[in-house]
Amino acid sequence: MTQQLAERYGDNIFNHATASEDERLAALAAELDPASFRRLGALPIQPDWRCLELGAGTGTVARWMAARCPDGGVVATDLDLELVRGHDGEHGDVTWTHHDLTRDDFPPGSFDLIHARYLFCHLRTREQDLARVASWLVPGGWLVLEEPAKFPIESSPHHAYRETSMGVFTALAERIGTDCDWPRALPDHMRRTGLTELDIDIAYSMVGGNRPMGRFWELTVEQLTPTLCTMDGITPDMVADTLVSLRDPEFRELGMATLAVTGRRPVS
Ligand SMILES: C[S@@+](CC[C@H](N)C(=O)[O-])C[C@H]1O[C@@H](n2cnc3c(N)ncnc32)[C@H](O)[C@@H]1O
Repeated sequence: MTQQLAERYGDNIFNHATASEDERLAALAAELDPASFRRLGALPIQPDWRCLELGAGTGTVARWMAARCPDGGVVATDLDLELVRGHDGEHGDVTWTHHDLTRDDFPPGSFDLIHARYLFCHLRTREQDLARVASWLVPGGWLVLEEPAKFPIESSPHHAYRETSMGVFTALAERIGTDCDWPRALPDHMRRTGLTELDIDIAYSMVGGNRPMGRFWELTVEQLTPTLCTMDGITPDMVADTLVSLRDPEFRELGMATLAVTGRRPVS
């Protein structure tokens, strides 16, 4: 009997052709870019470094790296490159590549710096994928992973927001295999691949009003509304209340945290 293939990121939910997906990913980048650029900027980046940006989304981090590595270059991958913004060559060399991290490889030792953000939580084969990614580093190369953590939402005092948002994590787990608990142990996962010099950092986010994380979460909840409304403990009114709160300038709440871990492939 042929086994039914499970739905994957982008097949339906978060498909880049969905009308709001461009804005959703742009809001995410607007929220996260400043901390990502600060973390990456703390590394001893050289102009001749070869960099890899996995699951590039709108491409902001790839272009940031390209501006700093004009003699090396940047390969930026995604399942779908439709939402990449800006023009090639504007700030350095980015090679935009259709690439499925769960299936496609690069030769071992290809990159001095590899970065991925809000990607591994969505991969069903994340442990094996992480080991493969670590092998693509040159000796002494750096891996920077930034992933979401849901604990600030889990403890929210706002019932509708908390239950609806926790429903998002459950719906994503059931539909596409997302696991937003896995990143909590990111340093351990990275250590198991043999990476050393591990460093951990965290950034909290606020939602409500016009904050980028609030807009990102609003558009995420909107996409999942039909699924959320069928879930135990979540009513259509709770989903509607959550959407109103996320747009309300007076709503003061925490959104997802971002856990960032930097690791290095041993020099020898
Ligand atoms: C939540 S978005 C994050 C985008 C970007 N990294 C950022 O933080 O702004 C996840 C991205 O990973 C891509 N993606 C999902 N699964 C992938 C896979 N198996 N291989 C490559 N890219 C993938 C999606 O298409 C999407 O652009």
